[in-house]
Amino acid sequence: MANALSFSSSVSVSVLFTYLRMRPCRKRIRRMYRPLLASSTPSGELEKIKDMEARNDTIASLLACPICFKPLELSDWTIYKKLKCQSCGKVYVSNGRYLDLTFSSLTDESEAFMRPSTELFRNPAISFFYERGYRQGFQISGYPGPDEELKLANKYMETAVGGTVIDLSCATGIFTRRMIKCGLYKSVIGLDYSETMLEQFHSFIQEDQSLKEQDFLLVRADVGRLPFATETIDAVHAGAAIHCWPSAANGVAEVCRVLKPDGVFIASTQVVEALRPFRQVLRIAYGAAGVWTEEAELRKLCENCGLSNWSSTRNSAFIMFSAQKPRTILSEPDKM
Ligand SMILES: C[S@@+](CC[C@H](N)C(=O)[O-])C[C@H]1O[C@@H](n2cnc3c(N)ncnc32)[C@H](O)[C@@H]1O
Repeated sequence: MANALSFSSSVSVSVLFTYLRMRPCRKRIRRMYRPLLASSTPSGELEKIKDMEARNDTIASLLACPICFKPLELSDWTIYKKLKCQSCGKVYVSNGRYLDLTFSSLTDESEAFMRPSTELFRNPAISFFYERGYRQGFQISGYPGPDEELKLANKYMETAVGGTVIDLSCATGIFTRRMIKCGLYKSVIGLDYSETMLEQFHSFIQEDQSLKEQDFLLVRADVGRLPFATETIDAVHAGAAIHCWPSAANGVAEVCRVLKPDGVFIASTQVVEALRPFRQVLRIAYGAAGVWTEEAELRKLCENCGLSNWSSTRNSAFIMFSAQKPRTILSEPDKM
């Protein structure tokens, strides 16, 4: 009884606290979802609304229900609060910092549980230390560091300049923030499954005045169920993440689905030939690919998922590769 009372009082306190916190956050929320809202030009309310509608239309044409992949319905400028699937009627909400487009947002926490390789990154301590030492450790495997890696990725993404790019499994936004700042892309979308990574990402944005003024969108989603309409995205970048996905094949197939014809997939990971005998054990323990033992495995994975034009750069175990969606996959009905 005492436990029940203390539980219900702590729930009430946290609801009240959330309510009080949200009120002054309104301005901040509007800034976060600037692509979905009016720009702050002092040119009158009507223009603001028109601008807002145009931006909402652009975003709306990209977003899709992660259950049925049908378009999501926007109402006024409240997209960041509520999105409804026009087909199955499922409703997705935002907490004002990121839009939650996961299946698990519709269920309770127990059903949100994923494999260890995904769960690890939902830990608040990992998210806090991710850019404060954890990521720097990747240099041992030959990762050149985020600035060099982005330069390389930007070369592979030349065809996406002026278009829409998803930084898939963005974590704390180590690449998303750089992609926004480099100004090469019209829209940048940061996407991750980890709530704590996205919260940390949001904190970094708050600390950086130049980012607050930029247009971008933060989304929580599962790589196996990307909440975007088919053939709407110019490039998908996934830094150091494919080995963490519960199923690399499901992830790459989803990437291929959302890419426009000629769109590119760029990813980095590590290839360690010496780990071949332990591969199966590692995969079972980690619940994901964990590591590849030869480049050909990655190339085959992309090709099996419908991507071609393989290209790669190696540095010790580090590999960055790109593959392109051919024009013919969905455009030739005979191939369906
Ligand atoms: C090692 S971090 C890489 C982060 C960043 N891209 C980088 O280059 O440093 C791997 C990321 O994959 C994300 N991830 C794991 N499983 C995922 C899933 N099922 N869907 C989306 N992201 C996932 C984790 O939350 C984590 O942020």
